[in-house]
Amino acid sequence: MKIAERLENLPTYIFATIGKRIAALRAAGVDVIRLDIGSPDMPPPDVVIATLNEAALQPENHGYAGFYGDPEFRRAVAHFYQRRFGAALAPESEVLALIGSKEGIQHLPTAFLERGSVVLVPNPGYPTYSNPAVLVGAELYQMPLLRENDFLPDFDAIPAEVLRKARVLWLNYPNNPTSAIADLDFLVEAVAFARQHKLLLAYDNPYSEVVWDGSQPPSILQVPGAMDVAIEFNSLSKLANMAGWRVGMVVGNVEAISAIARVKTNSDTGIFRPIQRAAAVALDLPASWYTERNAVYQQRREVVTRALDRMNLWYAPYEATLYVWAEVPPQFASSAAFTEELLEETGVSVSPGSAFGEYGEGYLRISLVQSEELLREALERWERWLLRKALRMVGKQ
Ligand SMILES: Cc1ncc(COP(=O)(O)O)c(C=O)c1O
Repeated sequence: MKIAERLENLPTYIFATIGKRIAALRAAGVDVIRLDIGSPDMPPPDVVIATLNEAALQPENHGYAGFYGDPEFRRAVAHFYQRRFGAALAPESEVLALIGSKEGIQHLPTAFLERGSVVLVPNPGYPTYSNPAVLVGAELYQMPLLRENDFLPDFDAIPAEVLRKARVLWLNYPNNPTSAIADLDFLVEAVAFARQHKLLLAYDNPYSEVVWDGSQPPSILQVPGAMDVAIEFNSLSKLANMAGWRVGMVVGNVEAISAIARVKTNSDTGIFRPIQRAAAVALDLPASWYTERNAVYQQRREVVTRALDRMNLWYAPYEATLYVWAEVPPQFASSAAFTEELLEETGVSVSPGSAFGEYGEGYLRISLVQSEELLREALERWERWLLRKALRMVGKQ
């Protein structure tokens, strides 16, 4: 057997690695609390599950569902974008159904990048913007997301020779992993920048409805003229607690959607129709459903931030996403050293900031995907462990 050389440049997906270690610890009897991956623990609303069940009982719903998405699902996406963002989309040409947004994100490099071309990626950032691009031979240009810039990239800092080769600009707000929110003014700037440098602006917006600070995070499609240069990914995973269902969408510029569809139609054969029917219902949930769901995240975040306050650790101040982005306690050499020791010694798993890129070093990401009770338990274990370590240090002096 000979494995292709290109795989040497492809790191194992971080959560696959963490997941293996956790499985081994659990098999050894350790009670692990997972605050690393961002998989919502709450279910979607009953009406969504009932729609899936009903549609699954219909004999005609079990064949291949079509490549681009069920017309009903694509209309529901267009309706959601109209209602939520005031953006008008043609369901048949400006909306494409995806097997979760990760599927479309990983197709994008095949459609737009090649050897010698550059993709501008946020750092820290979601790893799928980078790794599939490396597979097609493209170069990555890392845009640092720094605390002092509110975790927004500085477009002026990107060298002209990079911009000459650049084809794609990735942006993601509300942001994973930092939880930062961008306002419409920043998106206006981003669209102008993409237009000036002839870039495809790929805006990733899966946390658009996971926010509780009273703001409504914008869509890139709210920027006048964005349809000329931009596409937007969104997904039912975080929007309606449907991460395991694998259903999402990419919307926007016709040419870009059709290029991604060309790759996609050669690699899969559509999403189970009952899932699309249920997702269409989920896209039409009343605002009150989000308010109630987000209130749970808000309370969980408070449990975490109160503990971080007690430990005197800085955290990003944004009330959005499933994550708290916090600094690593100063006595640890790296974020990975901290998270490994925390897991091995307390059974609490959080993500090291370095898993999201070099500019994530010094930070860690805590996911709000466990009950308040478990979060409290996890943070108590963490605090007690730090205290014990501190006491041991004092004892040695
Ligand atoms: C920023 C970002 N984009 C995309 C995804 C992929 O989500 P999905 O494939 O479940 O739609 C995630 C998942 O965590 C994410 O955090």
